[in-house]
Amino acid sequence: MKTKTIYICSECGARSPKWLGKCTTCGAWDSLREEEVVKSKSGLKLKKQNKNTIIKLGNIDYNEDLRIKTGIDELDRVLGGGIVPGSLVLVGGDPGIGKSTLLLQMCGIISENKPLYVTGEESLLQIKHRANRLENINENLDILAETNIEEIDYAIKTSDCNVAVVDSIQSMFSDKAESTPGSIIQVRECASLLMQTAKSTGKAIFIIGHVTKEGVIAGPKILEHMVDTVLQFEGEKTYSFRILRSIKNRFGSTNELGIFEMLDKGLEQVKNPSSIFLGNHDKDQSGVAVVAAIEGTRPILLEAQALVTPTGYSVPQRTSNGYDIRRLHMLLAVLEKRLGEKFRQYDVFVNIAGGVSMNDPSVDLGVAAALVSSLHDRPVQYGTALTGEVGLTGEVRAVTMIEKKIREAEKMGLKRIIVPSASIKKAINEHDIDIIPVERISLALKEILQ
Ligand code: TYD
Ligand code: MG
Repeated sequence: MKTKTIYICSECGARSPKWLGKCTTCGAWDSLREEEVVKSKSGLKLKKQNKNTIIKLGNIDYNEDLRIKTGIDELDRVLGGGIVPGSLVLVGGDPGIGKSTLLLQMCGIISENKPLYVTGEESLLQIKHRANRLENINENLDILAETNIEEIDYAIKTSDCNVAVVDSIQSMFSDKAESTPGSIIQVRECASLLMQTAKSTGKAIFIIGHVTKEGVIAGPKILEHMVDTVLQFEGEKTYSFRILRSIKNRFGSTNELGIFEMLDKGLEQVKNPSSIFLGNHDKDQSGVAVVAAIEGTRPILLEAQALVTPTGYSVPQRTSNGYDIRRLHMLLAVLEKRLGEKFRQYDVFVNIAGGVSMNDPSVDLGVAAALVSSLHDRPVQYGTALTGEVGLTGEVRAVTMIEKKIREAEKMGLKRIIVPSASIKKAINEHDIDIIPVERISLALKEILQ
C-alpha cells in the first residue's frame, strides 16, 4: 500500500497536502502537524439507507432519574447530576494527575451498573496494584487490557456494562487508520467509533485523554468538539489537591468544579475547599492577594505575591514571574503617580503562585494590592478576592465574565470579592459572598488593607 504525507490542523482537523504556517480553515497559527496516511482505494462510501424515523418530541423517553449517580458528589455535580446514559465524556489532564485513579474509584462504586474498565496503558497487574491501594473496589469489576479500538468497541457492545472507561485515548488505535496511536487521525477515528457506540447502545463511555504542554486536550481540539462532556482534572503535582472542572457539558452547567485530595488510599472529596486554598498562607502575611481571573473561558483563582524590599542598587530591580513585566512597570507608575506610593527605593518581585502565567488584565488589581500590602507590610484582608484591570488614571476598569468569577470565588469559600463598578451593570443574583464594587484603585486598597 502506498503511504503519503499530509498535514492536519491540530485545532480543527482540516487537512492540507502541504505545510502551511496558518490553517486556511480555522485560522490557527502553527497548528499543522505532519502525518503519514495510507492511501486506500475504496475510501469512505456513504451507505444509502433512507430509513429516517421522525419522532414526536413528547414521545422521547427521558427523565433526570435515568442518570447514574457515581456516589462521588464532587464528580456527580461536575457531570451535571450524575452520568447520562449514552453520553461520551472526556476526562483530560496531565499525566500522573489522577485520572485513572478517579475513574477506577468510580467503577468501584457503581458496580451494580457492571462497569467495564479498558486499559491500554497499564498491564492488568498494574491495575490490580492500584485497586489494592484503593478501598472498596469490587472484585467483580470487569477489566480489559486492549488497545485495538474495534476489539474494545465489540467488548463494550457485547458485555452487559452500562458504563465503560477507556484509558487512554492516546494509546488506542483503529485498523481503519494507518497512522500511529495518539496521532490526530487515530484519536479522531477512535473517538468517533466510541461516540457511535455510546449513542447506539445507550451506554455511557468515559475516555481518558492526556493534555499536551500547551494545555490542549491532546492532540486535537476536535476531540473536545466530538464528545458530550469535557472534564479537566487539574492540580500541581507537588500539592495534594486536585480540581475537576467541567469545560463543556451538554447535560449540565460548566460552572461546576469538584475538589479532591490525593491521599494514600486514592482521591478523597474535599467538602470545604477554602481550607486548602486559603490555608496556604498565613492570615497576617503581607504581600499576598487572591486574584479572580479568566484562563481561556474558565474562571480561576490564584494567589498574587509581591515582595518589596529596600534596594542595594542604584537602579532598583523589577522581577516578575507569571505577570507581564511591562504591566508591572505600568502598575508601579500608576501607584506612584495616583496614590503617592513610592517604590523608587525598593526592589520589586512579583510572582503568580503555582507557576501559571496570566495574560488576563483582571489580575492587575490583585497584583497592585499585593504590592502596596508588601510595601507597608499590611496584610490584605483574609478571604478577599480581587478582580479588575487598572487604568492609567488609577481607575478600575471593567473586566469580562464577572459572574463566573464571583461564582468561582464563592465556590472556593471566599468571603468577599472586589470588582469594578463598571462590570456590575445590573443587580447581581443572590450570592453567599459580599460583592464590593469599586471605581478607583485607591478605594479598593482602602477597603482591603488591614
Ligand atoms: P494516576 O491515576 O495513575 O494518574 P493518571 O491516570 O492521570 O496518569 O495517578 C498517579 C499518581 O497518583 C501517582 O503519582 C501516584 C498517586 N497515587 C496516590 O497518591 N494515591 C493513590 O491511592 C493512588 C492510586 C495513586
Ligand atoms: Mg492513567
